[in-house]
Amino acid sequence: MKQKIFEKINELREHINWHNYLYHALDAPTVSDQQYDHLMVELLTLESQNPEFITQDSPTQRVGASPVKGFASVVHREPMFSLGNVFDELQLRNWYERTCRLLAVSSFETMCELKIDGLAVSLTYQDGVFIKGSTRGNGVTGEEVTSNLRTIKSIPLRLLQSIPSILEVRGEVYIGKRDFLGLNEKRMTAGLPLFANPRNTAAGAIRQLDSVITSQRPLSIWVYGIGSDDSGSAPYTQMETLNWLSSLGFPVNSHNRFCPTFQSLVESCDGWMGRYEELDYGTDGLVIKVNHRNMWQELGSVGREPRWAIAFKWPAEQAVTKIKDIGINVGRTGRLNPYAVMQPIHVGGVIIQHAALHNEDYILSKDIRVHDWVIVERSGEVIPQVVRVLPEYRPDDSRQFTMPQSCPTCGHNVARDPEQSAHFCTNPSCSSQLVERIQHFVSKGAMDIEGLGYQWARILTEQNVISNVADLYEVRRDELIEIDRMGEVLADKILRNIENSKQVPFWRLLYGLGILHVGAEISEILTSSFPNIDQLLELKEEDLMQIPGIGPKIASSVVSFFQNPQNRVLISRLKSLGVGTVNSQMVSNKLVLKGFVFCLTGALEKMPRALVESKIKTLGGAVTSQITKKTTHLVVGQEPGVQKISQAEKNNTTFIGEGQLLDLLQ
Ligand code: IVH
Repeated sequence: MKQKIFEKINELREHINWHNYLYHALDAPTVSDQQYDHLMVELLTLESQNPEFITQDSPTQRVGASPVKGFASVVHREPMFSLGNVFDELQLRNWYERTCRLLAVSSFETMCELKIDGLAVSLTYQDGVFIKGSTRGNGVTGEEVTSNLRTIKSIPLRLLQSIPSILEVRGEVYIGKRDFLGLNEKRMTAGLPLFANPRNTAAGAIRQLDSVITSQRPLSIWVYGIGSDDSGSAPYTQMETLNWLSSLGFPVNSHNRFCPTFQSLVESCDGWMGRYEELDYGTDGLVIKVNHRNMWQELGSVGREPRWAIAFKWPAEQAVTKIKDIGINVGRTGRLNPYAVMQPIHVGGVIIQHAALHNEDYILSKDIRVHDWVIVERSGEVIPQVVRVLPEYRPDDSRQFTMPQSCPTCGHNVARDPEQSAHFCTNPSCSSQLVERIQHFVSKGAMDIEGLGYQWARILTEQNVISNVADLYEVRRDELIEIDRMGEVLADKILRNIENSKQVPFWRLLYGLGILHVGAEISEILTSSFPNIDQLLELKEEDLMQIPGIGPKIASSVVSFFQNPQNRVLISRLKSLGVGTVNSQMVSNKLVLKGFVFCLTGALEKMPRALVESKIKTLGGAVTSQITKKTTHLVVGQEPGVQKISQAEKNNTTFIGEGQLLDLLQ
């Protein structure tokens, strides 16, 4: 009897999964909504009468997890890359020709895919069952949002064919344009605030702590590739991989095109002009990928951008307006950043009134003058830019711009750095720089010291209450209360938030320090490799360059920041004032390698050497460069050194491979 019920349940699940696939992935349903609902009710009834048969991959189990307090972090098995951009055919040709040179071929096949404007996710399947889903995060570590992703009906909970072991699939979660309008209409009727745009709504829904709320958002997914495939079943080309993913039950966009030659690729890109707006989902361009995956390996990546793919961005939206004035903002590093103050104008759905003018050379080369009429453009999240001046409309009162000789804030000399084409205020204590640094330090993504907005940061520096970020931790209550209009309530709030900020994760402190080229993502990557600030103080550029995602520019900026004597003093003060300078997530692991002394020989394949060494130290172990009497383990990589091997044999040191070492580090 039970066996019969079990078989019936399985049969119903298979039917429902198949209809789900036809409806959500292929957009070609063969049964009516009522017929589908009928199957669902039948399954729900059987499962409620026989709860022992309920499994996580049953189509009835999409919603049901209780709200969580926060998301666990997931280290991606393979990093989730970003993409380099090209904006026109010439740049695309350059990319294609460079790729040809690197591959030593005269042409190669590509896939031209839509670049969906949503949120990248990774879906992990074990033996064909969806077990884990995560956001991209910083590309190396993301957030585990499995129960939220389970609510998306087009994500199969069980694949149509069972693929052994682990398969990690990547795709973009989005909300369609019509679904978005429908959602907002419903919200309007219910008197709820409207959502601003589909992309942010989709991202917000995936990061909901309560998956019941996620299930009420009309989320969809397009799957565009695989992250890892332990069984080795995935085909060798991107085109076949997409077809294979579709046959496993995933929604794969039907507009993706195979382009055998460069000419066909250009035609494919051109074909989209003036047409992509008609799609029922937002796209911000095309993603062009080398078709053969063995070439991906050969091409590798630069920093966080693979050489085997490139984004071809849609042209930016433009409008005409008038420059009212040119202002200067003094940045964190003292750089003088000129910007245009314009008559407000609508571009691509938002009103803009400022545009970046970058530097004096830029202004001169475009001959931009105050009161000129100009074409401005906005593309995605990028700060609006002035494309060109309309000289035929230049008014008589137009005025040329010259960089000031002295800082508009502190009056100190301004010096020009020709290499960067930039002017800098030469006064390291310039209050504008300081205020910008403090403002960045206290901002939400960094130390999150709410209450201490730009104006208060300015007043505190002007009144000499603080002259660097460490001073914040020694501000006294009476000093704050004395400030005009501050009041006790706000002073106490600020002090409380300053105290609380000592507990923020270490990566946010690192980000808050405002090191050139070190944004939030890079900070996270750095602190997971070097969990203690003391390690960062001793870094060399070579150590940093071994970390995936860190290129020479970042490496040199990080090293010069930590070698600067003033910054070293600042860091030692922050430490002694109790600000968190350790990645506790990494360090709280038990010191399981205490007493172990490792020596490494040969090349490691799976993890950069600097990262391995730092992990060993974090877990209490030590690393020596030569075999000594104290060395307990010799880690043998590819092409090991003969001397180290024979020395280790003499000393009876234990030999281990890279795989065993990684197991130990887990
Ligand atoms: S491939 C090379 N394919 O674009 C690895 N990405 O800027 C990049 N995206 O994080 C992934 N549609 O969120 C790829 N057809 C597509 C895509 C796509 C949208 C997003 C994805 C990624 C970002 C990279």
